[in-house]
Amino acid sequence: MRVDGKAMRTIWAARDGVVGILDQARLPHELVIVELTTAAEVAHAIRSMQVRGAPLIGAAAAYGVALAMRIAPSDAALDDSVALLGATRPTAVNLRWALGRVRAALLGREPSERARFAWRLAAEIADEDVAINTAIGVHGLALIRQIAAARTTPVTREHPLQVLTHCNAGWLATVDVGTATAPLYAAFDAGVPLHVWVDETRPRNQGASLTAWELGRHGVPHTVIADNTGGHLMQHGRVDLCIVGSDRTTATGDVANKIGTYLKALAARDNGVPFYVALPSPTIDWSLSDGVAEIPIEERAASEVTHVSGRLEDGRVATVQVTPDGSGVANPGFDVTPARLVTGLITERGIAAASRAGLVALFPEHAAERERGHGAR
Ligand code: MRU
Repeated sequence: MRVDGKAMRTIWAARDGVVGILDQARLPHELVIVELTTAAEVAHAIRSMQVRGAPLIGAAAAYGVALAMRIAPSDAALDDSVALLGATRPTAVNLRWALGRVRAALLGREPSERARFAWRLAAEIADEDVAINTAIGVHGLALIRQIAAARTTPVTREHPLQVLTHCNAGWLATVDVGTATAPLYAAFDAGVPLHVWVDETRPRNQGASLTAWELGRHGVPHTVIADNTGGHLMQHGRVDLCIVGSDRTTATGDVANKIGTYLKALAARDNGVPFYVALPSPTIDWSLSDGVAEIPIEERAASEVTHVSGRLEDGRVATVQVTPDGSGVANPGFDVTPARLVTGLITERGIAAASRAGLVALFPEHAAERERGHGAR
């Protein structure tokens, strides 16, 4: 995407042995670039959510292994870096997918070749993510056109198509383009009149801070709403379509995404609003069949709930406490939306029904894989 007129990705090879990232913990108030030179620095960036979003943490982890291989290309160092990076965040399966791919590829190479090869593979994973998201945008645009054409009130500049999204499944959550935002940018660029309701997404406010920032930079009309507002808007016919991302989708179409997604899916079902999930295939965990029972949900720090940060009137960024001293806090980072509430899965190969049959029809190479959980649905 373009930032201040300059094409930019969320992660890039800055120079030999140096990985550049946009520090997302500082957005939207400051645009800060951070350079990472070791696997430990990459692990810290993922854990502290300087880089975040399922596809982006996969690409970042691949670069992390590549940096480790420059220091020590042994099997032991490879396994150490994979373990270090793999332990950073549990829910998004893209992390495990990327690390597994890099590890398998490196084990088949001489140690002397590993650093260079790993660097190239990390760049390849990053480029693939961009291509996948672009394809999601193509399929999503066709869907948006279809929904716009079917709306009883014609879609015009005065009455744009109303899309609700949750969290940030935008270009900041990926290497570029985004997943849930890919159809939105494609539609906007194609001239489809569009307005986006952006859930603020407490506790970390990825919607208010990140999605709003990137949509604004691209010129996409949008309105930030409190997380509790979506159901009301849907009851009043003010949402035509929901599109969210995913951190892990089971082989049967259950979707783990940022906490609060499930509530929006329930409201969408109650109000007859189509609820789509945009996801790249590395987000599918073909080994799982029951998302609620099987997907590990990250429990995050209490301070994300007890405190909020923002910009003071004098321009300084500060963090303040919003809860009374001593109150208990729970902070699960994700929830699971069962497949029955999902209208369809927008993937790089097309739109699948949220079911094993739907996914396998698009990804037949996984037909033979069996889930280890409760059996196929
Ligand atoms: O905790 P985060 O900010 O990494 O969570 C991100 C999300 O939940 C995104 O919506 C998800 O990764 C979809 S990715 C394009």
